[in-house]
This record gives sequence, C-alpha cells and structure tokens, in this order.
Amino acid sequence: MSRKVALLTGGSSGIGRVTVMRLLDEGWHVVVAGRKLPNFSAQELSERPHLMGQANLSFLPLNLADLGSVRDCARAFLSMDLPLDALVLNAGVAGVQGQTKQGIEFAFGVNHLGHFLLTQLLLEKLRHSAPSRVVTVASRAHHFARDGIEWSKLHQTSQSWFGVKDYAVSKLANIWFSRSLGKRLASDNVSCYSLHPGVVRTGIWRYAPAWFKPVLGVRSMLTPEEGAMTTLHCILHAPQRETGLYYANCRPAIPSPVALNDEEAEKLWVQSLDICSAWL
Ligand SMILES: NC(=O)c1ccc[n+]([C@@H]2O[C@H](COP(=O)([O-])OP(=O)(O)OC[C@H]3O[C@@H](n4cnc5c(N)ncnc54)[C@H](OP(=O)(O)O)[C@@H]3O)[C@@H](O)[C@H]2O)c1
Repeated sequence: MSRKVALLTGGSSGIGRVTVMRLLDEGWHVVVAGRKLPNFSAQELSERPHLMGQANLSFLPLNLADLGSVRDCARAFLSMDLPLDALVLNAGVAGVQGQTKQGIEFAFGVNHLGHFLLTQLLLEKLRHSAPSRVVTVASRAHHFARDGIEWSKLHQTSQSWFGVKDYAVSKLANIWFSRSLGKRLASDNVSCYSLHPGVVRTGIWRYAPAWFKPVLGVRSMLTPEEGAMTTLHCILHAPQRETGLYYANCRPAIPSPVALNDEEAEKLWVQSLDICSAWL
C-alpha cells in the first residue's frame, strides 16, 4: 500500500512538531509547510531510527502572513505530484499586534485567511485523493469571541492590545471555516474537523507582553505530546462520515452558540474568497 501523505502547517514547534513526529512513526510522508523544519532531540532520534534519514519528511517555505507565499507554497506542493490524505492547518500566532502583508488584522490573517487560501488552492488535490480530510487546529478560546467578527475591522490593525480578542476571533473563524468546508465537500468524501487541543505548554503566546506570561504560567497545562492527541485523533481515527464537527479530548464537542451560526460562517466564506480572489 502506498504511503499516506500529510501537509501540515507550522510543524517547527509545539503541537505541530509532535504531530509530525507521530505521523512519521505511523509511516506517513509529512510535508511541513512553514518557516522552519522541526528539530528532533538526540533522544528522540535514538528512539526513532526512522527519523534519522528523514526521507519521508519534506519542507516547503510558507509565511501565512503573506498570501503570495501561500500561493507559492500550494503550487510547490502540487508540483511534488503527491496525493494529499490529510491537510493539517495547525500553524497559529497569538498576541501579535499588526497587519499582514495584505493589510489584514494579523491573527485573522495568519490563523484563518492564509489557511483559507491554502485550502482553496488544494481543493482539487483533496478531491482526487479522497477519502481525505482537512484538520483545523482551532481553540476553546473562540468562546471569547461572543460578538462574532467585526467585519469592518478586518482591514485594521489588531484591536485588543495584547491580542486575546483577536486570537479568539481568528479561532472562531477556524471553526466556521471547517463547518462550511465540511458542507461543501461532503459529497466528495473529503471530511473536515476542527478541534481544541487543550491548554498546552508551548510558545504560542511568546509575542505577548512580558507581564501577561506569568498569568499563563500558573495554569496547569498539557505537554505538547498530550496536546497533539486530538489533532492525531482527527487525522488518524475520527470516522470519515463525521464532517464539520468540532472536537476536544479526542471526541466531538459542542462549540459556542456563535460558532454554530451558519449564516455568519457563510459570510466569512464569501468575505474570505473576496479578499483572496487575486491569489486564486
Ligand atoms: N498551546 C495551546 O494551549 C493552544 C490551545 C488552543 C489552540 N492552540 C493552537 O494550536 C496550534 C499550534 O500552536 P502551538 O500551541 O503548538 O504553538 P507554537 O509552538 O507557537 O506553534 C505555532 C506554529 O505556527 C507557526 N507559525 C506562526 N506564524 C506563522 C506564519 N506566519 N507562517 C507560517 N507558520 C507560522 C510557527 O512557526 P515559527 O516557528 O516559524 O514561528 C509554529 O510552527 C495553533 O493553531 C494554536 O492556535 C494552542
């Protein structure tokens, strides 16, 4: 049987790095799209001789804050002529102030819009590879986006000064995107899952102000190994017929009432297509 292939964004650290390692353990070919490859420790390498040559680990440059880079990445993946069994939209930022290269609020641009464009450019590949799946790492933080998305502010710099609100909105967008995509691809046997990985000790808030970090440090947190479990469940085990659902603790969970608003999810789809139109 031929090797399964995953394209995963942001595999350099945290949850993504462990997901890459576990998929390699399972015999997958993993294409990491991001700014750098994961480093494996001497102990990890000695426990996993198959990581040594890393023949099944490829790298494609991707900066999600620039839609031109996203398009180049998609083209480079298509030129590899591989199937795409799982597209794993894992990369994320929190606590960054500013706008992307195209002038979009930074967290929304990186966490949602870059992934939206990447997926659009790989839709035909996903259909041809069916049964295939798209796994989006969202967050329970979407509960803080109680008012949904302020559409008029997407082209402005981050609104909240240490980024929690913007991060929450971007993670709500992840869930809306996954639900909408699931509906659109249901008849193609391409299934979509969004998920909360748990509260995980990673560097996701490294760009937040220094005073904010001790607040995070006092919480009990999962290890990245534990935090990768729901992502891996959605890639490897979640039933193909379950599409558009939100997962936590390796099982379907109920997101916030706002996250279930399909009219707003549709609006997100239309607005995202509009912003990305020049790169499609
Ligand atoms: N940690 C948690 O408690 C938690 C909770 C809920 C959800 N999540 C979600 O889990 C996912 C993984 O985060 P993590 O916690 O594992 O944090 P992390 O270790 O900081 O990983 C984030 C990854 O995203 C990549 N990335 C950031 N900006 C990028 C850009 N512009 N273009 C391409 N790649 C970029 C990073 O690459 P670089 O090394 O190049 O920066 C890194 O590989 C995120 O979507 C996050 O929102 C995390």
